[in-house]
Amino acid sequence: MGFQFTEENIARVNKAKSKYPTSLAAVMETLWIAQEQNGYISEEVMSHVAEVLQIDKVNVLSVVTFYTMYFQKKMGKYHIQVCTNVSCMLRGAYEIWDAVKDKLGIENMEVTSDGKFSLEEVECMGACGYAPMIAVNENFHENLNKEKVLEILDSLK
Ligand code: FES
Repeated sequence: MGFQFTEENIARVNKAKSKYPTSLAAVMETLWIAQEQNGYISEEVMSHVAEVLQIDKVNVLSVVTFYTMYFQKKMGKYHIQVCTNVSCMLRGAYEIWDAVKDKLGIENMEVTSDGKFSLEEVECMGACGYAPMIAVNENFHENLNKEKVLEILDSLK
């Protein structure tokens, strides 16, 4: 059977739809709920979201492919995002980026073979005042250096 929202998530999607004048406007929130449930946005997920919102699948596809926060493949249990934009870069982001890549043995948008970690180089996350920073899933870690980042990775079980 293809992807179906859980009952709890159907209620969340309905609530999202009720906030907007058209169901098309709820596509981002609905996709986010779908990604939380499924881990990533597959073809089946996109079809189901289009069906639930009664919109064309191309509208779903265009959002999924435009915004990098939607994953089109299964990522790791811990998705590590390293900001290498200007403020972070000036304060050592590439040292952090190289250290994380070496530690995990993966490149940008890859997943470790045990499925525990995935890695993504990202643009500014809006935390420039606390640069350099990384995000682990949705948690920001700021004012970092290479040593602190390696400690964070070691603490993730
Ligand atoms: S440049 Fe890294 S958070 Fe803004």
